[in-house]
Amino acid sequence: MECSSNRHAFVFLFWLVFLSPLVCSQLYYNFYDTTCPSMTRIVRYNVFSAMANETRIAASLLRLHFHDCFVNGCDGSVLLDDTSTLKGEKNALPNRNSIRGFEVIDKIKSDLEVACPSTVSCADILALAAREAVNLSRGPFWPVPLGRRDGTTASESEANNLPSPFESIENITAKFISKGLEVKDVAVLSGAHTFGFAQCFTFKPRLFNFGGSGQSDPSLDTSLHKNIVNNAGLLQSDQALLGDNRTASFVNNYSKWPLLFFRDFAVSVEKMGRIGVLTGQQGQIRKNCRVVN
Ligand code: HEM
Ligand SMILES: *[C@@H]1O[C@H](CO)[C@@H](O)[C@H](O)[C@H]1NC(C)=O
Ligand SMILES: *[C@@H]1O[C@H](CO)[C@@H](O)[C@H](O)[C@H]1NC(C)=O
Ligand SMILES: *[C@@H]1O[C@H](CO)[C@@H](O)[C@H](O)[C@H]1NC(C)=O
Ligand SMILES: *[C@@H]1O[C@H](CO)[C@@H](O)[C@H](O)[C@H]1NC(C)=O
Ligand SMILES: *[C@@H]1O[C@H](CO)[C@@H](O)[C@H](O)[C@H]1NC(C)=O
Repeated sequence: MECSSNRHAFVFLFWLVFLSPLVCSQLYYNFYDTTCPSMTRIVRYNVFSAMANETRIAASLLRLHFHDCFVNGCDGSVLLDDTSTLKGEKNALPNRNSIRGFEVIDKIKSDLEVACPSTVSCADILALAAREAVNLSRGPFWPVPLGRRDGTTASESEANNLPSPFESIENITAKFISKGLEVKDVAVLSGAHTFGFAQCFTFKPRLFNFGGSGQSDPSLDTSLHKNIVNNAGLLQSDQALLGDNRTASFVNNYSKWPLLFFRDFAVSVEKMGRIGVLTGQQGQIRKNCRVVN
């Protein structure tokens, strides 16, 4: 009798201590530890190889994760090609001729399908590839919670609603808040523009101030925040961060304290990676990131 009530107490405690936090947070840092222990190594190696060929690819991979998470949640929808029955997001205005890195994701996926078939989602590949890209660029490191599932739909209209560099900070902030992020995240995550490359038309209005230094910069440091403070932000929206007093003091602080930026960037990008995720039995694990199974 006593034994069984103890056991009930234990079972109850087990649920309380071990299961409830997992049920709440839904993603797990050790999600593939037993089902695909080589996942991190495979992703890291492929990102490393792609960067050896072209350093800019690191920036492109980080941006893919952002464009995935802000449309339909982090569900790999950005990777889907158009078919006769599915309209993908690749031709939406912010994406067309702009987002890149799909071949790297395809290579990671095919290597993972050999190592651990039908196990790792494309959405998780994007999240981990972004982390490795930033880490290999001597940027900050953050732990990536895993267990996202892949969506079976895409939303071209939501992709067309991604933040634009010509929008006001007011409007951009509203978009971030609608995704569960905050004003601070706008200032922090815009720091991603420290590295990478922007096509001329996106920052033409600022070219005069910028002095033509729009070439790619593989190292993720705090120069964006310094540039903004010096009135030389690349995108109009980046420069506007200083004109908006809700974001200005973040920009000033990050320009002064690089490590503060690194720490906050890690926190914000992990938060971004949790937007609208599918977990458990939702969605699917695609065999090919470009098509629904
Ligand atoms: C705050 C609102 C944002 C706006 C308005 C914006 C806009 C843009 C634009 C216009 C470009 C240049 C695209 C091109 O020339 O083809 C760009 C590039 C980039 N964006 Fe953003 N972005 C925003 C937020 C973010 C966030 C949250 C991240 C990631 C955390 C990010 C990461 C990047 C990266 C890494 C690039 C360079 C990509 C490459 O070189 O391939 N951006 N962004
Ligand atoms: C190397 O980078 C170029 C872009 O600079 C790209 O077109 C090419 O496909 C890449 N090659 C490999 C093997 O990744
Ligand atoms: C990259 O991550 C590894 C841990 O996996 C860490 O030891 C290393 O210091 C990181 N690199 C940078 C530049 O932060
Ligand atoms: C901000 O959003 C409103 C409502 O969607 C729109 O009418 C306005 O043109 C936007 N302003 C800018 C600067 O993007
Ligand atoms: C922010 O700026 C507006 C006008 O630009 C001003 O009225 C307001 O007092 C400022 N708020 C803070 C907290 O500085
Ligand atoms: C910027 O740094 C100052 C001085 O440490 C601090 O008082 C302020 O709260 C910081 N601003 C933000 C937005 O973190």
